[in-house]
Amino acid sequence: MSTFLVTGGAGFIGSNFVHYVLESTDHRVIVLDKLTYAGNRASLKGLPVNRMTFMHGDIADADLLDELMPQVDAVVHYAAESHNDNSLNDPRPFVDTNILGTYALIEAARRHDVRFHHISTDEVYGDLELDDTERFTETTPYNPSSPYSSTKAGSDLLVRAWVRSFGLRATISNCSNNYGPYQHVEKFIPRQITNVLDGVRPRLYGEGLNVRDWIHANDHSSAVLTILERGRLGETYLIGADGEHNNKAVIESILEIMGESAGAYDHVVDRPGHDLRYAIDSTTLRTELGWFPQYSDFHAGLEATVQWYRDNEPWWRPQKAAAEAKYQLTGQ
Ligand SMILES: NC(=O)c1ccc[n+]([C@@H]2O[C@H](COP(=O)([O-])OP(=O)(O)OC[C@H]3O[C@@H](n4cnc5c(N)ncnc54)[C@H](O)[C@@H]3O)[C@@H](O)[C@H]2O)c1
Repeated sequence: MSTFLVTGGAGFIGSNFVHYVLESTDHRVIVLDKLTYAGNRASLKGLPVNRMTFMHGDIADADLLDELMPQVDAVVHYAAESHNDNSLNDPRPFVDTNILGTYALIEAARRHDVRFHHISTDEVYGDLELDDTERFTETTPYNPSSPYSSTKAGSDLLVRAWVRSFGLRATISNCSNNYGPYQHVEKFIPRQITNVLDGVRPRLYGEGLNVRDWIHANDHSSAVLTILERGRLGETYLIGADGEHNNKAVIESILEIMGESAGAYDHVVDRPGHDLRYAIDSTTLRTELGWFPQYSDFHAGLEATVQWYRDNEPWWRPQKAAAEAKYQLTGQ
């Protein structure tokens, strides 16, 4: 039995990981979360209090980290500023948390010789052409487009350097786009679902041809746990579930699942620098560590996600007006 320090455990993917670990193992979890607009304690409701402790704080707080590190066997680092559109409006918090926060954490892990797993994104690789047959692999060169992806790329490189220079016992994973429960309504899929629930037509950036490689958050969690258990120190693993769909197809599926006509959405101005296509080749994770995704049917996963937002309006309603007000400023 291990104790994990899960940073950002009140956010979307972090909270899914906490649920997954507490439900499928006997490990304990300490969540460290600053509770920014994206963090929500309600995402951790109902979890066993004897195996989960919540600590409100900043990953950049070195004194707090020195208190926590001796209590844990591994750090699983999800905390980040994570929304591309926000990073275009105000990049500063992205530099503070994603780069300086990660720096504080790896320094603390080094001081206390604690195993470290760094969660990152496929967006560090930039984008692919729509008609390209290539997918990202562990050796694809970094080419980030936005302040968000560039600060994530910077944090990945810090971790790699700490492995090489200081022998930090670390692994890194770069995952494709996640969907599932507990995702903030500013993000593409929950925004469209909650708009339809509110009787508002979904909004599609540009022509909607941009392709994302979707993975259910539970599959991301099982992959991260596999890497913690069996991953080779110093390695980077790509996590993906072969779920490529363009944004237009995703909106049309949501409308169909929700009983609306497939064309009942509006086009809005595209995001500047919007990446065209992401696609992950997760062969290494599958062949070396024997991991496979369980949610291979994207449509079924989307149906379950729609149902979750239908059933959990008290969870998402308090975020909705503020998220839409931000989009109104950019006409999106
Ligand atoms: N969402 C995706 O599709 C996706 C895909 C691949 C990788 N990732 C990565 O997964 C991680 C989690 O993403 P998410 O979508 O769950 O993000 P999120 O925005 O939903 O959650 C981020 C969490 O981090 C917390 N946080 C932010 N700054 C903090 C700080 N300084 N100290 C402590 N806590 C802080 C927030 O309060 C929030 O709970 C990120 O590192 C992101 O880059 C996300």
